[in-house]
Amino acid sequence: MPIVDLRSDTVTKPTADMRRAMAEAEVGDDVFGDDPTVNRLQARVATLFGRDAALFVPSGTMGNQVCLAAHTQPGDEVLFEAHAHIFDYEVAAAAVLSGILTHPIVGTRGVFSAEDVRSRIRPVDVHCARTRVVAVENTHNVSGGTIFPLDEIERIAAVCRERDLRFHLDGARIWNAHVATGIPLADYGQYFDSISVCFSKGLGCPVGSMVIGSAALIERARRIRKRFGGGMRQVCILAAAVLYALDHHVDRMATDHDNARYLATELCTLPGVEIDLEATQTNIVYLEVAGTGKTGADVEAELRRRDVLAIALGPTRLRCVTHLEVDRAGCEQAVAAFKEVLA
Ligand SMILES: Cc1ncc(COP(=O)(O)O)c(C=O)c1O
Repeated sequence: MPIVDLRSDTVTKPTADMRRAMAEAEVGDDVFGDDPTVNRLQARVATLFGRDAALFVPSGTMGNQVCLAAHTQPGDEVLFEAHAHIFDYEVAAAAVLSGILTHPIVGTRGVFSAEDVRSRIRPVDVHCARTRVVAVENTHNVSGGTIFPLDEIERIAAVCRERDLRFHLDGARIWNAHVATGIPLADYGQYFDSISVCFSKGLGCPVGSMVIGSAALIERARRIRKRFGGGMRQVCILAAAVLYALDHHVDRMATDHDNARYLATELCTLPGVEIDLEATQTNIVYLEVAGTGKTGADVEAELRRRDVLAIALGPTRLRCVTHLEVDRAGCEQAVAAFKEVLA
């Protein structure tokens, strides 16, 4: 049986057509600014989000961290949701690289409100850090790929303008939010001072992320990217994969969302398994298996023996993520394996 790898949407390999596009890319040295393919991609993505400029970076972590560094001075503070990737999974980079204080807001399915932000902004006082940045994550990974509502984004943006805060979007999976809601990327793009997006997740590219914003932000981000070691040379090979994916891999994400919903509705019927169906809004499904008497690690190991890969994230919590290498037959194989393991 083929292996069904549901650990993450980062596991996809470039397709034959994508590899062809990469092999044929027009090349140049991007640190000198003369890689024609990456320049074309940066202009295209900036336009998609309705913004002036964009900058290719090697990873989503670097994208977020370049933006935080661009907006802050050491001792400033950033507000974000308590299970944001920036907080939980970026190896304390905000503290180490930018010397900033991180202030988590406990949200609901990854979402917090403008009132939450307003109530946490510190006073201008000699004792306090300067609250400087608000970051939202859309979709929110740890909550199950949940979508941050656009009207709440608009309200938070208004608070940020009023209180002179910078507003950042961790849009590693904004493509999924765009496909699931039909909201144009530019409608999201208008509200933020900086946006970071990933190409190596739902879009199925091997490597790469991008920072998007004003020309001034991107000029600053280019220097910080170099300082962080993210200035690369013939990036064209990676950029060509992204240009291919933007043409062929965006709309198809609706299939990943259907497959995730199928997995969630099937797996939530298993005895002892809990799934928040309201959180299954895009391509991520979290299962709580405490009621089965097994640990997440047990279930992960037993699934692996049946050629199904999920990932235990927590003692009794597992994650399954759908992507372009998992079709409906693969999901059926996964459901059958779960049924055997949890019987
Ligand atoms: C929401 C979110 N932001 C940022 C990242 C970081 O991306 P990378 O692994 O490319 O550093 C991830 C990775 O999964 C993510 O889920």
